[in-house]
Amino acid sequence: MRVLLVGNGAREDALGWRIAQSPSCEALFTTPGNAGTELYGTNWNLAVTDAKGIAERALQERIDLVVIGPETAIAAGVADRARELGISVFGPNRSIGRLESSKSFAKRFMERNSVPTARYSVVHTLDTARKVLASWGERGVVVKADGLAAGKGVVVTSGPAEAEALLASWYGERAIPGGGTDIVLEERLVGRELSVFALCDGRAMMPLIAACDYKRAGDGDTGPNTGGMGAYSPPHGFPEGYMDIVRERIFAPMLRGLAAENERYVGVLYAGLMWCADGPQVIEFNVRFGDPETQAIVPRIGGDFAALLKSCAEGALDLSVAHVNPEPCVGVVLASSRYPLESTPIANLPAQVRLPDGVRCFWGGSRLVEGTVSSPGGRVLTVSAVGATLHEARERAYAGVRMLRERFGDVDLTFRTDIAQF
Ligand code: AMP
Ligand code: GLY
Repeated sequence: MRVLLVGNGAREDALGWRIAQSPSCEALFTTPGNAGTELYGTNWNLAVTDAKGIAERALQERIDLVVIGPETAIAAGVADRARELGISVFGPNRSIGRLESSKSFAKRFMERNSVPTARYSVVHTLDTARKVLASWGERGVVVKADGLAAGKGVVVTSGPAEAEALLASWYGERAIPGGGTDIVLEERLVGRELSVFALCDGRAMMPLIAACDYKRAGDGDTGPNTGGMGAYSPPHGFPEGYMDIVRERIFAPMLRGLAAENERYVGVLYAGLMWCADGPQVIEFNVRFGDPETQAIVPRIGGDFAALLKSCAEGALDLSVAHVNPEPCVGVVLASSRYPLESTPIANLPAQVRLPDGVRCFWGGSRLVEGTVSSPGGRVLTVSAVGATLHEARERAYAGVRMLRERFGDVDLTFRTDIAQF
């Protein structure tokens, strides 16, 4: 089959790499792609939000399967447009994509369908926010801007006073991340986080694989929030049978809810969970694979990954065509030195560095220019490694980081040194 992958991050480099290796994949196209995807496929020059352009080109180029990476493409209706032209798509339509693009939509959906999640209120003005916070009590407050805000819309506060000060500035300066007016005020949950990825073909929903990511910039979970500085899979230290618990308590009611509300969900549903004293609670849903979790899960998937995604897109999910290997994987993100405060462009990086078997570098947003890589900065790449144990995978990933840094010379990159360290 001919596959079109939409996106340009390290997540897409990881997805594309596995899709291109799949026995059923004849050709891979990526739009806009990056320096990594260009090595095993063909990059197109269409933005991820150009739904009409992407769908029309996919039709012209006889694409059999469109795989959508980023939420911005889903929110722009890429899946809707391609489906209208009769093309199979792995990724949900825009309307049910609101599970990610609108936090208030997601919270209400979970409430209606008894999916465990933190208590919350939706407010639209500073006045109503103040009223809600006045009766909040001692519980911690998490403030969430409603729309897509590229990771900048969520602030975990110390309590109602800090939340109120934050909202006064957001409303006062009309500076609500994402540009809307709705805010979700949510009870702060205490526990350990994990990300679980389920495939859904419109009828069935099967948890496939799980990972843990590291959102803070600095070691020991210090510093500002980022898009994610590393990840490992499978998660460590959760109760035995945790995937079954997540299936029963989270994905089963989600599936029933989708059916009851006549919503057809096709693609991956990513549950960001907090494992609390009484089990998992949903922090958020995403309607796509995670970044950097994907860089730590894709190397564990064997078999025909493209066929797995295609079966899902066509409403006949077939888990027998692929499998999850038991060997753990660790991914470490290298970012430009002032990330996430600033992105510093970097040029002339070597496009291919020899790394040991089982260790791979996935490029973030980047371009190949005369054989070298140019990156706008931010999260430049992820080094992923599999190993017999989590410890070995971690040692190998950091050995890969050292090799790359040697090859890159004096390029100033930052990374966490404690990914998958216990
Ligand atoms: P989100 O953008 O919704 O993934 O939130 C970003 C991060 O904020 C999450 O990964 C959590 O670490 C934290 N967070 C969000 N909601 C809550 C909550 N209700 N309780 C505790 N932490 C939260
Ligand atoms: N790793 C977090 C995300 O992809 O949203």
